[in-house]
Amino acid sequence: MVAQRLVRIRDVTQKDMQAILSIEYKCFKDPYPLALLNRLRAMHPDGFLAAEADGKVVGYVIGIIRWGATGHILAIGIDPPYKRQQIGSALMKHIIDRLRENGAKLVRLEARKSNLEAQRFYLKLGFRRREEIPYYYEDGETAVAMERSFEG
Ligand SMILES: CC(C)(COP(=O)(O)OP(=O)(O)OC[C@H]1O[C@@H](n2cnc3c(N)ncnc32)[C@H](O)[C@@H]1OP(=O)(O)O)[C@@H](O)C(=O)NCCC(=O)NCCS
Repeated sequence: MVAQRLVRIRDVTQKDMQAILSIEYKCFKDPYPLALLNRLRAMHPDGFLAAEADGKVVGYVIGIIRWGATGHILAIGIDPPYKRQQIGSALMKHIIDRLRENGAKLVRLEARKSNLEAQRFYLKLGFRRREEIPYYYEDGETAVAMERSFEG
């Protein structure tokens, strides 16, 4: 029998920020600095969710509304030992519900063109690949924009 890990999705608090920064550094070669993460939390308190397991933060997602009806996922990261346990999917489901409650008619995000793992993850969640955006990242890498619509 495989034991299911108990995971709680909740709003991020100030106390979580160091743990989130540490996951950010493990996940990305161009991590958001702490000041930016703090600013995003201050500006979008209901758009910043944490996943808690084993008594600690093991993942987070940031999603905001732009231009009235477009949800935008700015970042999602899972602590590497906790990957492939459906925690990222749970975070995405919760943030997408929030964005829809706040008026989003579609949700967009960008992934590095080389980040096929993330693209597979988003495809599994119903996102579709849209346009490519050259030089989107600081190192010049192209982004693949992806979108999930709730209508039609
Ligand atoms: C992408 C990421 C958020 C996925 O989180 P996760 O909790 O590991 O994903 P889940 O367990 O919910 O995966 C759900 C499904 O997505 C797909 N998927 C997830 N990771 C995958 C991988 N490495 N390779 C292929 N498919 C993958 C699978 O279909 C998976 O279902 P399955 O395990 O039943 O096959 C996580 O790998 C991560 O933090 N990556 C580093 C940061 C990053 O790239 N963020 C996205 C930036 S755009």
